[in-house]
Amino acid sequence: MICYLSPILLVISSMNFQQVFSTECVEVNHPIIRTFSSLVDFEGNKIPFDPRNSSIGNYVAFNFIEIESLPRNAFLTFDSEHIIKLDLSGKNTKEIKDGAFSSLTCLKYLSINNNSLSKLTWKTFKDVGNLVELNISTNKLKELPGMIFRDTPRLRYLDLSNNMLRKLSPFTFTNLTNLQKLNLSKNDFTFIETEVFDPLISLQVLDLSNNKFIELDYQNWKLRNLETLDLAGNYLRSFDTSLSSTFGNLKILNLSSNYLEYLNVHALKKNYYKLTTLDLNHNNWHCDDLAKIVHYLVDFRLQLPARNSSKINELGIDCNNYMPVTLGDVLETSIVTSSITPVKNASYSVKNVEIEFQIDDLANKNNEILLEITGVRKLLILSLMFFVLCVILYAMVQVGWCDGLKQKFGSREGYIEASAQENYSMLRS
Ligand SMILES: *[C@@H]1O[C@H](CO)[C@@H](O)[C@H](O)[C@H]1NC(C)=O
Ligand SMILES: *[C@@H]1O[C@H](CO)[C@@H](O)[C@H](O)[C@H]1NC(C)=O
Ligand SMILES: *[C@@H]1O[C@H](CO)[C@@H](O)[C@H](O)[C@H]1NC(C)=O
Ligand SMILES: *[C@@H]1O[C@H](CO)[C@@H](O)[C@H](O)[C@H]1NC(C)=O
Ligand SMILES: *[C@@H]1O[C@H](CO)[C@@H](O)[C@H](O)[C@H]1NC(C)=O
Ligand SMILES: *[C@@H]1O[C@H](CO)[C@@H](O)[C@H](O)[C@H]1NC(C)=O
Ligand SMILES: *[C@@H]1O[C@H](CO)[C@@H](O)[C@H](O)[C@H]1NC(C)=O
Ligand SMILES: *[C@@H]1O[C@H](CO)[C@@H](O)[C@H](O)[C@H]1NC(C)=O
Repeated sequence: MICYLSPILLVISSMNFQQVFSTECVEVNHPIIRTFSSLVDFEGNKIPFDPRNSSIGNYVAFNFIEIESLPRNAFLTFDSEHIIKLDLSGKNTKEIKDGAFSSLTCLKYLSINNNSLSKLTWKTFKDVGNLVELNISTNKLKELPGMIFRDTPRLRYLDLSNNMLRKLSPFTFTNLTNLQKLNLSKNDFTFIETEVFDPLISLQVLDLSNNKFIELDYQNWKLRNLETLDLAGNYLRSFDTSLSSTFGNLKILNLSSNYLEYLNVHALKKNYYKLTTLDLNHNNWHCDDLAKIVHYLVDFRLQLPARNSSKINELGIDCNNYMPVTLGDVLETSIVTSSITPVKNASYSVKNVEIEFQIDDLANKNNEILLEITGVRKLLILSLMFFVLCVILYAMVQVGWCDGLKQKFGSREGYIEASAQENYSMLRS
């Protein structure tokens, strides 16, 4: 009996119930946006959000002006689990209650940008595990709770630009292993801990422009796929190109509008071998330094975009043409006038660059010399060994030690024949 039933049981157990009962999330090429005038209007919806029906769509927007608070289950309505995109931008929203997005299991694109949000909790995005793009730009966020994105591991694009963020917990981006683009531009960051970016193993674009970074602790970043790094509009005084083994895939580096005076171009060539575009505009370059930097980068197939500027020079990148003050002049004048003359740091940085280049050149020369020395040394040792060997051989011949050897070699054929015969006779007997 059991034998007859078992095949049927097997068939039943192998049926995929999950597929039968789970919602199918459908996205079409030319989506139709359905606009509602209020949440009440939306909640009264009787039409499915099935984009395969050519007259209805699953993109949802609202044309009301303001909604101060999004309540729990705000978007729970007939067929709301098929909604793919929700646009809530520019609604003056101040608060999102936990569970507001419950039921939106297919949601891929969520825009809550251009609102007045000052707080989100780790439960805000708990129910929207299919999110791919999230725009929270232009709000009033000062901080984010840890693990806020732990239930949205499919996120590829996250826009947090234009808020008031100052710091991030090391767990802020936990689970965002698929994130490709992160925009943290226009916030109040002065510092970001290295570990914050650790989960972002797929990140390609990182926009940190228009913050307040004075220094950036990037030498331990694990962003191996990073292709674009935007650091424009910060307070960076230096950018250490020698530290970074992180940026092997970097193509675009924007360092414009900082306070840079010096750049180690040799290390740049070594560590940033995929770089194609480097924006150096609006920094504190001394024109001589800049000329050198550009000169050293010409053979690096690198684009150095130029910008229209009042202080523009022949290279198209602006620089400062201070009076060419040398160290000696400064000392003299300060001794003569016995007053403290403020020295532009750029005048030193010319020296720095020159010294750096000289040191590098010297190092290169040193290396060459070292190589030559080791070559010569090897040759000497070899010829010495050869000489010693010759002497020993000569001595051996003179003393007569080689005579026995000669005999042995001479009778070698006979010896082999003899032993073969021996073997033969052994087999026979
Ligand atoms: C498409 O939606 C309309 C309502 O908007 C409905 O009357 C019609 O039956 C639907 N067609 C299909 C094929 O589902
Ligand atoms: C932001 O929202 C306001 C309405 O709240 C609107 O007037 C303004 O155009 C929006 N700005 C952007 C950039 O979308
Ligand atoms: C996010 O919103 C801002 C405006 O608030 C806009 O500039 C930006 O392009 C949006 N990002 C995406 C991915 O749509
Ligand atoms: C998110 O991270 C937590 C803690 O690291 C882990 O337990 C959980 O399985 C992750 N969830 C997903 C969907 O990756
Ligand atoms: C980041 O956001 C800012 C401001 O919203 C915008 O101007 C910039 O284009 C964005 N960066 C990227 C890489 O999308
Ligand atoms: C660098 O950033 C500045 C300021 O945001 C922008 O104008 C410029 O186009 C950027 N350069 C590149 C090469 O993207
Ligand atoms: C730069 O400025 C000049 C005149 O000041 C103008 O003719 C030219 O079009 C500008 N170029 C760009 C790229 O803005
Ligand atoms: C010049 O550099 C020194 C240290 O190198 C720093 O303390 C000082 O603030 C700098 N001055 C200016 C005007 O940048």
